[in-house]
Amino acid sequence: MTDLAESYRDSEALRIALQSRQDSQKSSVERNRLGQYATPTDLASDILRYAKKEMGATEIRFLDPAIGTGSFFSALLREFDSDQIDAATGFEVDPHYGAPARHLWRDSKLRLELEDFTALSPSGQYNLLICNPPYVRHHHITAATKKRLQAASVSACGISLSGLAGLYCHFMCLSHPWMATSGLAAWLIPSEFMDVNYGKGLKDYLLRKVTLTHIHRFDPGDVQFADALVSSAVVWFRKSDPPPDHSVRFSYGGSLSNPRLSAMIPATALESERKWTRFPRAPERKSHHGPLLSHFFDVRRGLATGANDFFIMPRDKALAAGIPQEFLRPILPSPRHLAQDIIETDPDGWPVLDSPLGLIDCALPAEAVKRDYPEFWTYLEQGIPEVAERYLPSRRDPWYSQEKRKPPLFLSSYMGRSAAGRESPFRFILNLSNAVATNSYLLLYPKTALASALDRSPDLIRAVWELLNNLPTDALTSEGRVYGGGLHKLEPKELGNVNAESLASLVRDGGFNSEQLALLP
Ligand SMILES: C[S@@+](CC[C@H](N)C(=O)[O-])C[C@H]1O[C@@H](n2cnc3c(N)ncnc32)[C@H](O)[C@@H]1O
Repeated sequence: MTDLAESYRDSEALRIALQSRQDSQKSSVERNRLGQYATPTDLASDILRYAKKEMGATEIRFLDPAIGTGSFFSALLREFDSDQIDAATGFEVDPHYGAPARHLWRDSKLRLELEDFTALSPSGQYNLLICNPPYVRHHHITAATKKRLQAASVSACGISLSGLAGLYCHFMCLSHPWMATSGLAAWLIPSEFMDVNYGKGLKDYLLRKVTLTHIHRFDPGDVQFADALVSSAVVWFRKSDPPPDHSVRFSYGGSLSNPRLSAMIPATALESERKWTRFPRAPERKSHHGPLLSHFFDVRRGLATGANDFFIMPRDKALAAGIPQEFLRPILPSPRHLAQDIIETDPDGWPVLDSPLGLIDCALPAEAVKRDYPEFWTYLEQGIPEVAERYLPSRRDPWYSQEKRKPPLFLSSYMGRSAAGRESPFRFILNLSNAVATNSYLLLYPKTALASALDRSPDLIRAVWELLNNLPTDALTSEGRVYGGGLHKLEPKELGNVNAESLASLVRDGGFNSEQLALLP
């Protein structure tokens, strides 16, 4: 190793020591407020090594608009020859990091300025911009600042960002005029923008204002910033108009230089796809204009009691404790504790299970319960104040009543892993009882046309249930999201978006009269 390379290693060791000393002097709440999470050395090296390959021998004018102690500048020194570096600038709003960092880099080419980057007028043009911007969520940005940032983003690059966009989205838009034509940028940002509504402005920017070349997404199970707990992506682009027939490399898992998966995705597919995180694992979605599950069902989340341990118990135990049956609603155990996929009913509407559960649901005021059902009141009193004052119960009147939900005919688990012997992580349950269910399920209520058809031909009920269970796994998982360790999750809206062509065929081929068919999509 040359002396020079050795000295850059030393400065990185000093920078790391400085970073941890400054971090230790702040609480995590303070660091959260300004999105102060440093980039680990290896990841900074990986990013600058990649930049080196892209930039070749071009003279470098480097910018990091949220520099912290300078992890990227330090990596720039390690990966590029110092002769190749023409200029380097960094901005940092917090002197707690910026002042000692300026001292640390005083003999280098870095010009580190203690400034709020979002308030500066662009000056200078940089051909290599590398940034891990502050991940400050929109609800920590005041209304006045949000307004200023939105207007500034429009004038910087013509993109109007949603009011729900985090500070990092504005950083990207505001950096546009600081970049030289054809300059290269890498942004280390939360991958959330790829799927959520507020990310649309950023996706428009990446598709229309620059040439997006590569998005590498880290495996959420392999958290890059243990203390920030976000699943991150590195977004690479050039400041140039996107060429016709442009394709973008999407990679996933492993490292930036050695990803586990990689695929080229046409920009046209990105234009029409709401959820970019499906790439590169899933293929381009075939455009689907046909029927969706939401055309047939109202999908709702199950009941959130706010204290399942208190409100839900075996019916026998509840009756033995003097809780009257009239204040108990049958409720299903969580999917983990439910072996059956078809819930039969007893003559009273209770599910036929070894130990059916009851949910306390009573609309009587406290005085009436005390007077008429003293034993029941003795039980409820045990929840005062701890349960009664929790967020959800405290918003109900009385706190021991529940949200109104009819028993659903079909339910689906909303979270799961693909278990051996069962490929789909989601399970559909046919509920012939009057049981309701908690929010560990999604509840599927047939809409009017389907409901009336099912009323007339009960045979169809099972056929519909089988069909739900036979929906292709990919159709379900590609609408939902996946977490570390292969845990899949589906929100009500996402389940509603699942292709329901097979259900539509069933409807067309059997049982439905023309009047009902006319009501269907
Ligand atoms: C996620 S950290 C990244 C720091 C460093 N670049 C790294 O990768 O380790 C973001 C940095 O941006 C700084 N910052 C937050 N708001 C800023 C602003 N408006 N202008 C400049 N810097 C800002 C924070 O203080 C923090 O040091």
